[in-house]
Amino acid sequence: MGGLAVADLRSADLNSVLAPLNFLVPMAEKPVAYNYEPPPGVPVRTGESEEHQVPIRDARPLIGRLSLDKEGFVLLHHQSAVKNFYDEDEIAAVYYPECERVIKEATGAARVIAFDHIVRNAAMSAKANTIKIPAKRVHNDYTAWSSPMRVRQLMGDEAEKLLKHRYAIINLWRPIRGPVLESPLTLCDAQSLSEKNLIASDLKYPDRTGETYSITYNPDQRYYYFPKMQADEAVLIRCFDSAPEGAARFSAHTGFDDPTSPPDAPPRESLEVRTLVFFTPGT
Ligand code: OGA
Ligand code: FE
Repeated sequence: MGGLAVADLRSADLNSVLAPLNFLVPMAEKPVAYNYEPPPGVPVRTGESEEHQVPIRDARPLIGRLSLDKEGFVLLHHQSAVKNFYDEDEIAAVYYPECERVIKEATGAARVIAFDHIVRNAAMSAKANTIKIPAKRVHNDYTAWSSPMRVRQLMGDEAEKLLKHRYAIINLWRPIRGPVLESPLTLCDAQSLSEKNLIASDLKYPDRTGETYSITYNPDQRYYYFPKMQADEAVLIRCFDSAPEGAARFSAHTGFDDPTSPPDAPPRESLEVRTLVFFTPGT
């Protein structure tokens, strides 16, 4: 198996589950979603989604071969020192610096800045409005427009200089509790993702409008997951790279309903941290 490329391995040798994924139905207008309670009469989200049954392949046999430059995601071993991932102060004080260190090491970047995170737990989301349920729509967090916009919003006077050099936006996704038996994360191989299936969509916050990509279905897209992820495992997701060496600048991902989940599986608990990644030393 040593000499085989990822593509050679995928259909013949990998286990897969057939699972429904939700895609955007192509539409004429720009889709809009609200990250908060919209004004009266305004829908939380415009645009229809359609379900497609998609084979989702077990990427565990590929772990050593995956790269952010090609597939756009990798799995790492990482033991966090965080004691309580539901403590927002501990996330900022302990976990953000850990994520910055891990991503620096994994990418060789000169500078990594963690700037945002989401805790997901369906059992707790009704009680705490900072806690979200797993996402169930294929998407990418940033677009060709919102990636540099985020750098400008977060980096102040340094932004224009930083934007002249290569930069990326990378998420670090991890289970808070393992093994993940319900709503695992699936990742689209960036090499299989065509930019024509990336649909820029407004994401409204109370104080600003962001932009994400909704994804339309294409049978060429190849999806992977890491079954039963543990709390000492983390996935890096390259959402954007201004000058990628491998495949696309973008990738795509979502949580999904795994038909092989045990009926009594506890709700998935996870945390994703978003980071700005700058590659050029001295910038
Ligand atoms: C992300 C993301 C979805 C989920 O990490 O950016 O969209 O359900 N995650 O965890
Ligand atoms: Fe996302």
